[in-house]
Amino acid sequence: MDKPKVVLGVSGGIAAYKACELLRRLTESGHEVRVVPTASALHFVGAATWSALSGNPVATEVWDDVHEVPHVRIGQHADLVVVAPATADLLARAAHGLADDLLTNTLLTARCPVVFAPAMHTEMWEHPAVRENVATLRRRGAVVVEPAVGRLTGVDTGKGRLPDPAEIFEVCRRVLARGVTAPDLAGRHVVVSAGGTREPLDPVRFLGNRSSGKQGYALARTAAARGARVTLLAANTGLPDPAGVDVVQVGTAVQLREAVLKAVADADAVVMAAAVADFRPQTYAAGKIKKKDGQDPEPVVLVRNPDILAEISAERAHPGQVVVGFAAETDDVLANGRAKLARKGCDLLVVNEVGERRTFGSEENEALVLGADGTETPVPHGPKEALAEIVWDLVADRLR
Ligand code: PMT
Repeated sequence: MDKPKVVLGVSGGIAAYKACELLRRLTESGHEVRVVPTASALHFVGAATWSALSGNPVATEVWDDVHEVPHVRIGQHADLVVVAPATADLLARAAHGLADDLLTNTLLTARCPVVFAPAMHTEMWEHPAVRENVATLRRRGAVVVEPAVGRLTGVDTGKGRLPDPAEIFEVCRRVLARGVTAPDLAGRHVVVSAGGTREPLDPVRFLGNRSSGKQGYALARTAAARGARVTLLAANTGLPDPAGVDVVQVGTAVQLREAVLKAVADADAVVMAAAVADFRPQTYAAGKIKKKDGQDPEPVVLVRNPDILAEISAERAHPGQVVVGFAAETDDVLANGRAKLARKGCDLLVVNEVGERRTFGSEENEALVLGADGTETPVPHGPKEALAEIVWDLVADRLR
């Protein structure tokens, strides 16, 4: 089989050096990559590097090898175009359909999915001109990955940093796998919770659970690759931030509730994949609880935590908002799942079986998705990403 053909556009920002790592990941995972840098990009990383790493010729202008009509052919033959980093200037030229170099010509002739990974200073990213250009590109079907927050060029810190190349690669892999040019969650805001809450007993100990966050992160990554703006509420996961996703860290169930209520206000869909503690210790000891010689330990008194899923299902932030829950069951999985769907009042409930070494922390899952409308969608054993795709298919159906 032919290798998938990827065009890696590189525009002139300091983050161009990170595109070398993206290029390496793409080639090593079996993609044929043609790098098309802008002239400014070559100030940061030279043509020799791109050519050696890709094994292909490199040109910035339309005047090289004119007999091969590269300004048309490169775009026409691509299965994916990814521009990383995409500067404010490149986004503007792409949004306005300019064709003044090989990369912008390629963007006009490509009929495949296009991913932009912008990187620039926060002031530029927030400028209304850039916001409008990004909105235009998204409206036309491009996936524009939100920049990360962190250290920028010089002494500045803020939003505008190019996400980790490994995470941009993950977006490319998912977009290529779907192969569609109109991402179905474009223009949507989705909220995903992931991980397990921890309920503190004292400064040293907590009551927790075995959730790693992998299922929630798979949902967040998949939604971003399908064009959504994603807010990920992460409870104690320790996983790297997915590219293009706004990550909010939380600790306890009460903190998660606050973050959920804030994030869902303008959300089109909410997926509660986090394992939320139903109970928390009634009291928090300011100092470490000590064992006392000859005395039995004090019993831990628990109080109920708020049921976040039931609350947001009952009081929808706006009509049409789709709410999805997960049910982690160990026994009578289906009967418990059905009862939970009725009790929680969500639109979809993903019922999965869990155990000490089952589902928690694993790369794979298997589930039955119950719909409040009576539908049942079985999801066979497979990567957590595959379950995530099916959940978003069902959400996208309901949003339409
Ligand atoms: O993180 P991984 O290691 O990848 O594992 C994934 C997972 C097993 C954690 C995930 O697939 C899963 O099942 N998540 C839900 C875990 C859970 O809390 O299940 P539950 O049956 O206790 O709760 C049902 C639903 O109500 C869940 O959507 C939960 O987020 C929500 N809930 C629960 C309690 C509470 N107080 N508030 C809630 O909102």
